[in-house]
Amino acid sequence: MAGSGRRPEHRGPPELFYDKAEARKYSQNSRMIEIQSQMSERAVELLGLPEDQPCFLLDVGCGSGLSGDYISEEGHHWVGMDISSAMLDVAMEREVEGDLILADMGQGIPFRPGMFDGCVSISAVQWLCNADKKTHSPPKRLYRFFSTLYSALARGSRAILQLYPENSEQLELITAQAMKAGFTGGMVVDYPNSTKAKKFFLCLFVGTAGALPKALGAECADGEESQQAKFINERTRFRNAKGKSVKKSRDWVSEKKERRRRQGKEVRADTRYTGRKRRPRF
Ligand SMILES: C[S@@+](CC[C@H](N)C(=O)[O-])C[C@H]1O[C@@H](n2cnc3c(N)ncnc32)[C@H](O)[C@@H]1O
Repeated sequence: MAGSGRRPEHRGPPELFYDKAEARKYSQNSRMIEIQSQMSERAVELLGLPEDQPCFLLDVGCGSGLSGDYISEEGHHWVGMDISSAMLDVAMEREVEGDLILADMGQGIPFRPGMFDGCVSISAVQWLCNADKKTHSPPKRLYRFFSTLYSALARGSRAILQLYPENSEQLELITAQAMKAGFTGGMVVDYPNSTKAKKFFLCLFVGTAGALPKALGAECADGEESQQAKFINERTRFRNAKGKSVKKSRDWVSEKKERRRRQGKEVRADTRYTGRKRRPRF
């Protein structure tokens, strides 16, 4: 179960798995409340919001509103969306301060462009990797989710999605679809060497390619970068599937020239015209 610090086992569609009994646990199990709240706190920290300024946030897969409680404590306003009516019922019983909507993130984020100053999601997005219905295509649902989320976020804002990937393929699928939708950013892995405390936070930037926040508990001899997988859209567009630069691009020409220099061959100096396409001559 997600709240115990382990990834949730996949047991059918989320709207059925998160039934009344499961929803109750989220309001009554103190260990689960503590873990979900800690992750919410970290997610809000990673959002890097301006200090002393109330912001308007979206909580995707808000469940019973545990993350929402922390967001409210910090003085921000929020809207929560979730596919489980049982979870939202508990949120309403708990009289959370945010507005709640019953919606499937795989069908897209139903809000106006640029409406939110940030988005958090705690232990929810990995559910999109499952095909619970015949009509479900995980890559398509993930893309729809990320592209509509991108549009609902203000420029310069961030989405911080804590998730429990089942394997590296899921992680790749999720990050690939986020990139395709236009986000930059990357994965921050807190406490990477602890089986229990290890947590994945996908940190997504809208319209800026900022530096990735540092991971917690990641001090290791071979440098901090090892706990962060960064992707920058502009760069990936010039790389092919094998990670090589696209032939005849500026990067490709520069790499080729560098290689020839290393081989001791005579190579022309780089200029602003290096790798630039010539206009066709008539
Ligand atoms: C592990 S619970 C976490 C709830 C809450 N974020 C918290 O930290 O307490 C995962 C939540 O994701 C929701 N969820 C799963 N798939 C969803 C989807 N496709 N659209 C919206 N919510 C979804 C579930 O209904 C559930 O409430």
